[in-house]
Amino acid sequence: MSVEAAVAYLEPLIGGPVDLAVVLGTGLGAFADLAADPVEIPYADIPGFPDSNVSGHKGRLVVGKIEGRRVAVMQGRAHYYEHGDPAIMRTPIETLRRLGVSTIVLTNAAGAMDKNMSPGQLALIGDHINLSGVNPLVGDREDGRFVSLTDAYSPRLRARIKRAASQAGVRIHEGVYCWVSGPSFETPAEIKMMKMLGVDLVGMSTVPEVILARRFGIDVVAISVITNYAAGIDGSSPSHAETKKVAGTGGIALKRLLLSFLKGLEDV
Ligand code: 6GU
Repeated sequence: MSVEAAVAYLEPLIGGPVDLAVVLGTGLGAFADLAADPVEIPYADIPGFPDSNVSGHKGRLVVGKIEGRRVAVMQGRAHYYEHGDPAIMRTPIETLRRLGVSTIVLTNAAGAMDKNMSPGQLALIGDHINLSGVNPLVGDREDGRFVSLTDAYSPRLRARIKRAASQAGVRIHEGVYCWVSGPSFETPAEIKMMKMLGVDLVGMSTVPEVILARRFGIDVVAISVITNYAAGIDGSSPSHAETKKVAGTGGIALKRLLLSFLKGLEDV
């Protein structure tokens, strides 16, 4: 099984357990640069770690110290739309658990449904709606597959993120994230429907990682960098180029927020 192989490969390289992991989404890779004495391992070298060919992704695992804490940073993630497999992130997430990770911070670039959530701003994910039609646990034969997704986005960690945001002077919204498969963007009619369903943010990632993390007992917190308005909102027609460009600026606020969050964890 590739988890065993991945753990066996990584353990000697990373020199000790890690309890916190951060997954950086499209265009958000800069946070990894903060790691002191980093060990950088390309996904291509790790058994069972899928590569992502989405431009704006680095495709490596960086383990190092940030704010005095050992952190594993996944610089880029594979998406369902790249591989056609909703469980494409299963091996990385299970491997992180096996390396000691008990908390995961997931980040992504997302479209906003509300004019008050502007491109460049951050939003904490409070809950999700899965409109992809797939689930990463299909085919899982263990009892553990019946994962509860009530409070999947840890209320305790969400409170910590809000505190960290206010300490860092970073504004953060909170909302419901809707996962769609992509890679095409939504139609304006689909966005209108999602608005009626109570969706605030839309994107092509994160939900499978949340489900997998909960499957393995990892606490989750997830943050979107709003890169654009969703289709038809404020006349918007989203593009990947726009997503990447705005992710760069939003990524600066995200970096500050995550630093403040890590600092806050130290005095627990
Ligand atoms: Cl508008 N839709 C989706 N599905 N993903 C996005 C997005 C929109 N903006 C950034 N990522």
